[in-house]
Amino acid sequence: MAGGFSVAAPAGVQFEAKITPLVIISCIMAATGGLMFGYDVGISGGVTSMDDFLIKFFPAVYRKKHADKESNYCKYDNQGLQLFTSSLYLAGLTATFFASYTTRNLGRRLTMLIAGVFFIVGVIFNGAAQNLAMLIVGRILLGCGVGFANQAVPLFLSEIAPTRIRGGLNILFQLNITIGILFANLINYGAAKIHPWGWRLSLSLAGVPAVLLTLGALFVTDTPNSLIERGRLEEGKTVLRKIRGVENVEPEFNEIVEASRIAHEVKHPFRNLLMRRNRPQLVIAVLLQIFQQFTGINAIMFYAPVLFNTLGFNSDASLYSAVITGAVNVLSTLVSVYSVDKVGRRLLLLEAGVQMFLSQALVAVFLGIKVTDNSDNLSNGWAILVVVLICTFISSFAWSWGPLGWLIPSETFPLETRSAGQSVTVCVNLLFTFVIAQSFLSMLCHMKYGIFAFFAGWVIIMSIFVLFLLPETKNVPIEEMTERVWKQHWYWKRFMDDDEQAFNGDTEKNGRISPNGKNGV
Ligand code: BGC
Repeated sequence: MAGGFSVAAPAGVQFEAKITPLVIISCIMAATGGLMFGYDVGISGGVTSMDDFLIKFFPAVYRKKHADKESNYCKYDNQGLQLFTSSLYLAGLTATFFASYTTRNLGRRLTMLIAGVFFIVGVIFNGAAQNLAMLIVGRILLGCGVGFANQAVPLFLSEIAPTRIRGGLNILFQLNITIGILFANLINYGAAKIHPWGWRLSLSLAGVPAVLLTLGALFVTDTPNSLIERGRLEEGKTVLRKIRGVENVEPEFNEIVEASRIAHEVKHPFRNLLMRRNRPQLVIAVLLQIFQQFTGINAIMFYAPVLFNTLGFNSDASLYSAVITGAVNVLSTLVSVYSVDKVGRRLLLLEAGVQMFLSQALVAVFLGIKVTDNSDNLSNGWAILVVVLICTFISSFAWSWGPLGWLIPSETFPLETRSAGQSVTVCVNLLFTFVIAQSFLSMLCHMKYGIFAFFAGWVIIMSIFVLFLLPETKNVPIEEMTERVWKQHWYWKRFMDDDEQAFNGDTEKNGRISPNGKNGV
């Protein structure tokens, strides 16, 4: 996910700044939040395909899995099993609301610390689970951690880093998520061979990024923006000097103070968000999240081993196929880092639309021909073909909808609605992640191979949306979005004609937007 839930770096003034060791260490520490999230995304699928785990918590699923007469597609159809995966996202989206408050009032550092503590307690519950309740409580606690971390970490990163590396950091967060998913797949591959407690190892190792994040949050300093926002001006200035490695921080300091003043003046950010002139950004942010999830990516991220198992791969093959898809995910995200500001957002999304559609449609056709309800396994050649198609699907997602689903909303909202817009974006994303997690295995059971046709259909819809309604935002300074993007767009420009009255005076003051992406989420 979450793909850099970051506030994009406005172009514009560059302040004096060195990339100091303090900045590097802080960023590494904070980025463990991305690893943690990715690990949680990737771990559940492998664990739910392990027999030891099923025998202990889901004996009914275990029996079904090994019953000959059971339809291949329905082996794992179980609401409790899906709840094990999905509860995390439900908790996460609820926590986002509280996280929005703590990031603003207690600071980014303390919010990361809260996240770390939730993660650690959640991991303990999961690793030591004796029954389903402990397992679900653990996932809920992890979800709370995700809600807090995903709000605070990207903001921390975007505020602590000098402007010129801020864009890269945005995608770094997404990259960390994919690395977390890959780690989880690798660990599952090894842990599945340890009987009967391999699954405990898988769930417990989430403790490593959790402890790192917590230690990081104890030792890093809060961002100057957060300190200043909470009225600690002198402290903010001292920290700014330390992290920038230069004496003269006056211009940047003044900008932050000014941005903070403006942010304080916006009394109702959520109401502002609903104004007519903010409609295009809101609609786009919400739809991008829904579309991102309806590509079907998490059906694979969560359930790849289960899915491969369903298709007749043995357990080992299922788990290492998941390692392959995880690696493709990481490598393809790198493609995005290099190309997003060169070829632009639209081209990446449109190319990916074609590639995703073809991969999914072909998977649907092959499975339709090859996997009948109670048939035996796919033959080797077909199995390899399915894995290759799933990899082509994942790679196109990873250089398009993965990072861009997060980048585009973060760079299009104006300052006065950026924080509220960010919360809505995170929430809608987690909501639809939950929907997919909770329903995929049942959908697979009922729709069979048609599930891939279903997602392929959504890919057509989202590509048409991109073609006609998503403007290009490449290389457009954030403070010039309204003039250069929205007012020029054939459709969205009609929402831009009521500038003056819409802002009850805020617009003029907000002519200057902090190059710190300061927004007081
Ligand atoms: C999505 C996650 C997904 C991940 C896969 C993110 O952008 O938001 O839901 O699991 O990409 O890499």
